[in-house]
Amino acid sequence: MPLNIGIVGAGYVGLVTGACLSDIGHNVTCIDTDKKKIDLINKKITPIYEKELASLLKKNKILATNRYEKSISNKDLIFICVGTPSLECGSQDLSYIKKTCKQIGKNLENETTIVMKSSVLPGTTEEIVTPLIEKHSKLVAGKDFSILVNPEFLREGNAVYDFKNPNRIIIGHNRGNGKKTLTELYEGFDCPKVYTSIRAAEMIKYASNAFLSTKISFINEIGNLCKKLNIDVYEVANGMGHDPRIGPHFLNAGIGWGGSCFPKDTKALIEKGKALGVDLKIIENAVKVNDLQPLKIIELLKKHIKNISGKEIGVLGLSFKPDTDDIRDSRSIPIISKLIEENAKIKAYDPKAIENFKKLFPTIKYCKPEEVLDSDAVLILTDWKEFEKLDYKGKIVIDGRRIQKARNKSRIYEGVCW
Ligand code: UGA
Repeated sequence: MPLNIGIVGAGYVGLVTGACLSDIGHNVTCIDTDKKKIDLINKKITPIYEKELASLLKKNKILATNRYEKSISNKDLIFICVGTPSLECGSQDLSYIKKTCKQIGKNLENETTIVMKSSVLPGTTEEIVTPLIEKHSKLVAGKDFSILVNPEFLREGNAVYDFKNPNRIIIGHNRGNGKKTLTELYEGFDCPKVYTSIRAAEMIKYASNAFLSTKISFINEIGNLCKKLNIDVYEVANGMGHDPRIGPHFLNAGIGWGGSCFPKDTKALIEKGKALGVDLKIIENAVKVNDLQPLKIIELLKKHIKNISGKEIGVLGLSFKPDTDDIRDSRSIPIISKLIEENAKIKAYDPKAIENFKKLFPTIKYCKPEEVLDSDAVLILTDWKEFEKLDYKGKIVIDGRRIQKARNKSRIYEGVCW
């Protein structure tokens, strides 16, 4: 039976969730404060680049609004999908969550199931979200409405695929009918459904992201050693990955991890640990390795061009990973800042992220890939598939992401960890 679903926050998590739920027949209303975004969604245009999202929006009817009463009242389910960015100190900024709770509370009706999808640190839903909603609704959680935690594990660039093909669905619950409603919503999804406490569900999200970030920093550290020993770390990772206890994924060494999630979630977890007197040494060091990793590419560049001042340095890839226009915490940012600091002349190309990057770095030259290749040296910072098709013949290439064609064809080639 189609459910009436309200989604608060039409970012990549909220919009993808809304579009996918609408695609399986539910009535979806998205609420966001960004008027431009609302207009685009109502015109069936996606405000972000995310594979398959444009066609889902075209095909389905999703209503977008900035009016809470429209998206909260008369709903069976409400998903909270607003951002939880980092504050300057690294801890979590809950201002959007708090505003959302107040508005949900003011417009909430009996029997609604509220689902927390935003990443929030353990304890947040029980200690902050629930009391705020109760205060503004004058209703009681577990009796008049339900509140659950259902973290998302969507990778940007593959978010629609990941939503439709989850490897597990985590449902954190305590009292109320919400467990039944959410279980029914996910009935058609063929994967393990893991029921936990609310706090464990919150922690699963952070522990998963911290583990994956650590796994990458681990292989990068091994890669840094391999580089000195003249060993190809990709051969090593392949050999390790066949052990099912290790697994083959997330062992791609290079210039490190960025994006909207790993940097913010690791920092938030470290800060939470500090507040409780628990030193999260492994995660802290995973972050340290990641902070240093992008600058390895500059060290390698200088092996071939001692003084980069005034030299033309081409940059291929600006987004934090392929298939997205997102540049948040992209490894390209510290690298380009360093190149600018050393007075290099930068020519940059990215298939999707140039417009976003221009807002941060308006003065560097943006151009076609062929023009980028016509530089004193070229740095590869994102593993976009199309970089496998470029002509690297005769070029000096320093590769942070392992592009095979560059590896085989360039005149001088250096990989960051290989
Ligand atoms: C990550 C998680 O993978 C998702 O499961 C999670 O839902 C999401 O965060 C989130 O918390 O919302 P995402 O940030 O989209 O997803 O990107 P990833 O594909 O995980 O890549 C993150 C970074 O790690 C990228 O910069 C990528 O280039 C880098 N990476 C990834 C490596 O350097 N090596 C690898 O082997 C894998």
